[in-house]
Amino acid sequence: MFYAFQLGHQPKISLAEIKTVFLSKKIDFTIKTTQQNYLIIQTKKKLNSTELIKQLGGTIKICSEIKSDKNNFLKSIKEHLFNVQPEGKIQFSFPDKKMGLEIKKELKNNGRSARYIEPKNSATIIHNHLIEKKGDLNIIAEHLFMTEAVQQFEEMSQRDYDRPGIDDKSGMLPPKLAKIMINLALSQNIDYKKNLLDPFCGSGTILTEAAVMGYQNLYGSDISEKAITDTKKNLDWIIKNYNLKNIQYHLNQINVIKLSQSLDNNSLDLIITEPYLGKPLHGNESNVYLTKQSEELKNLYLQAFEQFQKILKPNGIIVIAIPQFKTKSDWIKIDCIDKIKNIGFEIIPFNNENYLLYHRPNQHLGRGIWRFKKI
Ligand SMILES: C[S@@+](CC[C@H](N)C(=O)[O-])C[C@H]1O[C@@H](n2cnc3c(N)ncnc32)[C@H](O)[C@@H]1O
Repeated sequence: MFYAFQLGHQPKISLAEIKTVFLSKKIDFTIKTTQQNYLIIQTKKKLNSTELIKQLGGTIKICSEIKSDKNNFLKSIKEHLFNVQPEGKIQFSFPDKKMGLEIKKELKNNGRSARYIEPKNSATIIHNHLIEKKGDLNIIAEHLFMTEAVQQFEEMSQRDYDRPGIDDKSGMLPPKLAKIMINLALSQNIDYKKNLLDPFCGSGTILTEAAVMGYQNLYGSDISEKAITDTKKNLDWIIKNYNLKNIQYHLNQINVIKLSQSLDNNSLDLIITEPYLGKPLHGNESNVYLTKQSEELKNLYLQAFEQFQKILKPNGIIVIAIPQFKTKSDWIKIDCIDKIKNIGFEIIPFNNENYLLYHRPNQHLGRGIWRFKKI
């Protein structure tokens, strides 16, 4: 079976996430190609696209292949739509408007009235019930596909904007990236009973996403009292709104450099965190300023890793976003990786790359997503 995954705006990260999630769910697959931001894979078994789209933070859409004649897509599309919508007005969408209108004409010529819907975004697909109608079609890499599931963007943005505890100052990790980071920590067996800590929890995005994904034993700490209050409000909100059961959370206001005073040695399975990233940037900072900031962050992170080494169980995993700063011509990076290794960690790379860069073109700061294992 062939499937097409539409990847988000950081395709390399989306791909790494898919690979990790598939490994943990023991889904066998082969990558066929990547084209137009779609990853095309072949699987032996049918995928549960609805379940997968809920789990993945970096995938926009999952489509399955429809058998078609590549010399006559128009005919194949017509046959498919006749088959899946045997009665009433046919409703369908297709990215290329010209071809969409041609399909509509062809359907009319064959005695069926039809409505062509321009697929502007996921909302168009959801609101017109095109998934249930099997009517959102696309040709990718010379194969015909229909959409089986799209990202629940409304639910995600509700979690983003409607939650009670909001921190405008230190900023919030996009929930999608939080989800991706949690997924990147998955091992070959999913175990939601694992203890997960975010030691720079801010308003708690990683912890709330982890709760929605099924993690039950959550630990959060932060130096700021407001952060702990916000995280508590947000966790209570998510537990109530999503009717989540059996969640135990423990929050503590503490400086990361003293973390082992509040947590037992060898007690945690996972640390997933976006640490303090330094003072907000405006883009006009000098290289000297950025270098100084990098040095300060390096000291903080190394002290944090000393603590992580104590409280993590052997083989415990850390997924962390380490910032890097954009200059006119290059990046200023925080030179801490060798020292982290000396503290007692090894890098677990992503598809032969030591880290994945999450960066939007207009941002002055990039987040390098690193994965470490305690040795
Ligand atoms: C970038 S924010 C984390 C945002 C969080 N991921 C979220 O989505 O809300 C960094 C957090 O680190 C906290 N922080 C800064 N220095 C710290 C330290 N030494 N120990 C613990 N927390 C610290 C700040 O209070 C802030 O809440």
